[in-house]
Formats: sequence, C-alpha cells, structure tokens
Amino acid sequence: MERELALEFVRVTEAAALAAGRLMGRGDKEAADQAAVDAMRRVFDTIHIAGTVVIGEGEMDEAPMLYIGEKVGTGDEPEVDVAVDPLEGTNLVAKGLPNALSVVAVAPKGCLLHAPDIYMDKIAVGPKAKGCIHLDAPVEENLKNVAAALGKNVEDVTAIILDRPRHTEIIRQIRQAGARVKLISDGDVSAAIATALEDTGVDILFGIGGAPEGVLAAAALKCLGGEMQGRLKPEGEEELERVCKMGLSDPNKLLQLDDLVQGDDIFFAATGITDGDMLRGVRYQGQTASTHSLVMRGITGTIRNIEAVHILTRKPHFVARTPDC
Ligand code: FBP
Repeated sequence: MERELALEFVRVTEAAALAAGRLMGRGDKEAADQAAVDAMRRVFDTIHIAGTVVIGEGEMDEAPMLYIGEKVGTGDEPEVDVAVDPLEGTNLVAKGLPNALSVVAVAPKGCLLHAPDIYMDKIAVGPKAKGCIHLDAPVEENLKNVAAALGKNVEDVTAIILDRPRHTEIIRQIRQAGARVKLISDGDVSAAIATALEDTGVDILFGIGGAPEGVLAAAALKCLGGEMQGRLKPEGEEELERVCKMGLSDPNKLLQLDDLVQGDDIFFAATGITDGDMLRGVRYQGQTASTHSLVMRGITGTIRNIEAVHILTRKPHFVARTPDC
C-alpha cells in the first residue's frame, strides 16, 4: 500500500471523531455511534482503495453501514481488508469519560483476522517486553517476566484490565503478585496501545474484551513493535459456529500477533474523541474544531502524531477541482 494512504485514513477517523465528539456526555451512546459511523462511511468513499470491511458494525442484516463484507473506497487498487471501530468506547462518549477513540486498521486483502463479534482473551505488552508473555502462563510469571524485561520490580509494573466481574480472579492474582492495577470501565483498544507508548505508565494488558477490538489493537501493536496474544471465547453453539465459519480449524487456538494481523504492510489510524492517555479529545471553537490523531505504518514503523484544525463552516472538497481559468 502506498504510504500516502496514511493521511487518507486519518481523515476517516478525524471525520468520525468530529461527529461523535459533538455528542459527548449527552447520555446517548447509540446516537454518538451512529454519528461516527455516518461520518466515517462518507469519507471512505473518497479513498482510492478497493476495501472490504472485515471488522465492522456487524452483519449486513444488523448494520446498514460499515457492515462486514461491505465494499468501501473508490474501488481502485489496492485490494485491502478494512477493520473499523468508528466509536471505540460508546459508553465513554455518552458519559464524557476518557479514552474514547475512532479507529481504523487497513492491510492487504486476507491479512486481518475476520474475527466475529464475540469475546477474546487477551494479553499485550510494548516492544521492550516482547517475547516475555504467554496467555497461558500464570499471571505472576507474566508480571515477573515483564518486570525483568523493563528493568523494574513487579511492584513497579502497572497492569491494565477492564473492570468486569469476569476479571475478579485475575485482578486478585495481579494484586497478590504485588503489581499496580489500572481498572478501566471501557476501551481496551486504547489500553492495549498504552502498553507500547512510553509515557502512559501502563505496562501490560490482561483480560477478556471484544474480539474485533483485539484485531484492531493487534494492528496497532504490530506497527509499534509490541506483542499481543489472544484466544477467542465463543459462548454457546451459535458463536462456536461463527468461529468455525471463519475457517479456524481449532476454535481454541492461541492466536499470535501474526495470526491476528499478517505481515507488516499495515496502516493504523486513531483520533481521540474524549481526552485520553495518548490522544486529546476533540475541541470545538465555534467556526473551527481541533483533533489529535495517531497514524502508524507497519512497514516503516513510523508513528505520526497529527494535530489538525478543521474549518467547520466550509464543505470539504472531496473531488479534486479544476483550477479556475
Ligand atoms: P463499545 O465501543 O462497542 O461500547 O465497546 C467498548 C468495549 O469496552 C471494548 O473496548 C471492549 O473490548 C468491550 O467493550 C468489552 O465488552 P463488555 O463491555 O461486554 O465487557
């Protein structure tokens, strides 16, 4: 994929963030999500890709836009898989809480795991602790190995995990090992990314969250040189069937980073909707609004921080204009 596409994907997440950010704290997560989806969908049409949504808003019969299998882009080469979460953290926006993002990951066709909307057990770390974790290892062992890799004591390590009853035991084990714990109400994509960014103060992600979010986080961690492992957690026959339809011979397979996202030819873009550990949320100033985004390219490992000011009163020029004579 041409490197110029990076900026195009940021436009997509910026548009979604600008739309959803308007509804911050209004207690209506569906409206915020819809605004993000509509805005993201519109901008996709301007990008020169033949994209297929592989992680999206749901199956075709349940989501009118950005559904799994939907074609996005102008239809020109390259043929790519597209994973989107126009609003990652719907509750966060509805309540005005930190770390809501709009995210997109793009890779050549066939390179992103077509994960169904079920749960996934996850573990993730940044580049310095790469190779030191295993999803099936005891919590204490993972924490000790990460501490050693980071040159600190287990007491200095901060683990991040969704605050859910299903995590009671794992949280107990983290505390027993002596590590610090950051419990989050939502948003495990930003939590996974935080493990790979120096100044977030987060070292390791544990716990079960959405499988689609797992693939998005894996794309980001590939670009950042970190590591993530996952295992799908189908509940009941219907979810198991969906996993089997994906073509996974073993639904219990331990998914390594390369199983989640193949190769390095990946783009990942995220724009902050509410203020967060790594991205500032959208600010509106009457005629203008400002956004803060990250865009990363796996091939080069380049990470760009993009702060943009958008003039809200002008219509965007999606089609190249012929100069006036
Ligand atoms: P939404 O944006 O769809 O609300 O997802 C937020 C989220 O917290 C994800 O980050 C996480 O993977 C998932 O929900 C966890 O699911 P659950 O709320 O069912 O524990």
